[in-house]
Amino acid sequence: MQRFEAYLKKNLPTIDTFHPHYNKAISSMLLAGGKRFRPMLLLSVVKSYQPLLFDGALAPALALEFLHTYSLIHDDLPAMDNAPLRRGFETIHITYDEATAILVGDGLNTEAFYHISKAPLRDDIKIKLVEILARDGGISGMVLGQSIDLYFENKPLNLEEIKILHINKTAKLIATSLLMGAVIVDLDQKRKDDLYQFGIELGLLFQIQDDIIDETHSEEEAGKTTGNDEDKNSFINLIGLEKSIEEADILAKDLEDRFKKFDRVLQDGLGDIVLKYLYRHR
Ligand code: IPE
Ligand code: IPE
Ligand code: MG
Ligand code: MG
Ligand code: MG
Repeated sequence: MQRFEAYLKKNLPTIDTFHPHYNKAISSMLLAGGKRFRPMLLLSVVKSYQPLLFDGALAPALALEFLHTYSLIHDDLPAMDNAPLRRGFETIHITYDEATAILVGDGLNTEAFYHISKAPLRDDIKIKLVEILARDGGISGMVLGQSIDLYFENKPLNLEEIKILHINKTAKLIATSLLMGAVIVDLDQKRKDDLYQFGIELGLLFQIQDDIIDETHSEEEAGKTTGNDEDKNSFINLIGLEKSIEEADILAKDLEDRFKKFDRVLQDGLGDIVLKYLYRHR
């Protein structure tokens, strides 16, 4: 974790320009913090199987955090969720303006792939990382999820459709974080598939928990705008808070059981980060 934070700080943009706040605006939401859930998933898989590849995995881990942070900056824009608070700080469109927030998001998105291209890893591995991050973070993943989320505001979806929404907007990027780790250490196909599928369920849980947090946490506790999902197809709006917590508990228990069937090395390496978040809705 500390090595990741140090690496992130070292790789923040320092572009030589007469623009008065260009570098500061681009760096601000990365420096603001966050759980770093996705990079930690990737790095934990690598550390479990090939600790010598840890340093080489820092760049793709950073790419994940860049792409995720871009998705949050755009998610908060007035045209999307219109949220003034993120990671304990004012959102970029409040501090600066909407154009800056849009451009910072665009910049972090492309910069993610730049970092993968520069990683000290085999070329075939880097191409695979670009492929799966683009797939799950882009138009067949996060962007599709966000599009469904926003188009269907105040248009109720059924439970199956809400799961599809959550899987696209959140779970695919989480699953791909595990898969990127598996690609870097060259796991066999079966293990890759198992990790990815586990990541999809984990990501679904993560978004259900996020919906619960929107309902139950203050802005100070969450560090972001809460009570903001009134128009959304959240689990809360469909089945209510209590049932959502029950569903989250069931999914968390199922994931815990599945996690215990993973290799010992993986359980040791990934246990801290996965188990820490399984019951965060409680
Ligand atoms: C928030 O993501 C948005 C979702 C996809 C649920 P995180 O809860 O990982 O936010 P940070 O990175 O910790 O700020
Ligand atoms: C956002 O979901 C998911 C993204 C792809 C960014 P939310 O809109 O629920 O995330 P928060 O609650 O604002 O963090
Ligand atoms: Mg949103
Ligand atoms: Mg939001
Ligand atoms: Mg939310």
